[in-house]
Amino acid sequence: MMSEKLQKAREFEAKYAPFADAERPAFHVTGAIGWVNDPNGFSVYQGEYHLFYQYHPYSTNWGPMHWGHVKTKDFVKWERLPVAIAPDTEADRNGCFSGSAIEMPDGRQLLLYTGVYRQRRDDAIMEEVQHQCVAVGDGLNYEKYEGNPVLTADDLPEGGNRLDFRDPKIWQEEDGYYAVVGNRPADGSGSILLYYSEDGFHWEFKSVLDACYNEYGKMWECPDFFPMGEQHVLLVSPQEMTPLGLEFHAGYGTVCLIGTYNKKEYSFERDAVQAVDYGIDFYAPQTLLTQDGRRVMIAWMQNWQTANCQQKDVRIFGAMTFPRELEVRDNKLIQNPVRELANYHGRKVAYHNVVISRETNLSGVHGRIIDLTVKVRPASGKMYQWFKLKLGKDGEHYASVRYKPDCDTVRIDRTRSGGRFDIVHVRDFLVRDRKGEITLRILMDKNSIELFVNDGEQAATFLIYSPITAQAISFEADVPVMIDVEKYDLKL
Ligand code: FRU
Repeated sequence: MMSEKLQKAREFEAKYAPFADAERPAFHVTGAIGWVNDPNGFSVYQGEYHLFYQYHPYSTNWGPMHWGHVKTKDFVKWERLPVAIAPDTEADRNGCFSGSAIEMPDGRQLLLYTGVYRQRRDDAIMEEVQHQCVAVGDGLNYEKYEGNPVLTADDLPEGGNRLDFRDPKIWQEEDGYYAVVGNRPADGSGSILLYYSEDGFHWEFKSVLDACYNEYGKMWECPDFFPMGEQHVLLVSPQEMTPLGLEFHAGYGTVCLIGTYNKKEYSFERDAVQAVDYGIDFYAPQTLLTQDGRRVMIAWMQNWQTANCQQKDVRIFGAMTFPRELEVRDNKLIQNPVRELANYHGRKVAYHNVVISRETNLSGVHGRIIDLTVKVRPASGKMYQWFKLKLGKDGEHYASVRYKPDCDTVRIDRTRSGGRFDIVHVRDFLVRDRKGEITLRILMDKNSIELFVNDGEQAATFLIYSPITAQAISFEADVPVMIDVEKYDLKL
């Protein structure tokens, strides 16, 4: 039987979603209506890719969390499905927080998520309790398990905090299911706990897979853990990070820990640590394994620091990044847009060996729903100091990507891109020294820019706010440089 809360949410989104259609990007997932944060339950079910998301349909602000739902066959075109779950049971009455999904051998889809409830303690303080819950369904409708919660404070290791115990990510191995869950240990920072279950409903603690020890931020949210070749990757989204050179920035970050998993001992040894995305709007990534063996990642294309800085009169807030294929090469995470995007390439405009220095527009190179690749190299013996690409440009606005070969840095800058708030608009990050050669691939979808440097060695995601009519793109450098440009309009 469908709860009143779920029914109300479904009716609400069905009624109001059409009014938000004009605000939607062309190939990025948004909520039907209202607020969206983390991607949840990104997984394969009956041959299709399902994606759920943290969802508050009733306003563009965070509120009691539901799970919104979409599915796709190719990561580009998504079909909207009705709200999957609402906070409507004792165990999740104050929110269905982040979690994951998996197809069970009997053909049902299992959702493992964090149920939240608030209660008054004996000393009058209101506290929030987080524990893990299960719902099972057919890809459309879900029943909450009557045995919820399935993981509680009793399943925490010593010192574990039951107020910060969330975001289970499930996967299957030969002997059953495993899940990683974020927790705050006694030192007040973050840790990732590993659990095992034979059937998905009964879980037991196995190990502290990794811990932060106050080194990479505090509480580690939204973990994901998966093999890549001989190694394993642990993705976490730490709160309260501090910068480390240009590698991490302050606040909510995303970290990729690459290492070796010892399955017998349930232990993980790190080989390398790096930021996942060097831009401004990227958080809480989650991955799935495609049928053809690709590890694909999607994230919330926003960040908590600026989630209150909304444009006026919006009906939807929050979107997902475009899904990325992951690889690990030499202990580094490589990310590129999923290859399915090429099926939507429309008109192509290409230039080779063009020498530019003063700000230049190239005929046919403009747009806001585009897949653009620019290759830059020194034009003559003289090394350039800087190269700058401006996007989303009109007489008043632009966002820029600047490369400085002498210090191997790329800077993204959206200061002049129409934002109304005095928030972070600029970020610098290090790229590999290639003697002045660089490849910049840019996906633009109306108000978002996803930049991939040197075939995915770094990614940087950021939103811009200029009017959609700001379509120009320009190229400039301090001395002549040689560029190749390839631009596709995306036909959706
Ligand atoms: C991360 C997060 C999760 C939590 C969810 C609540 O963005 O804080 O840890 O489950 O958002 O919406």
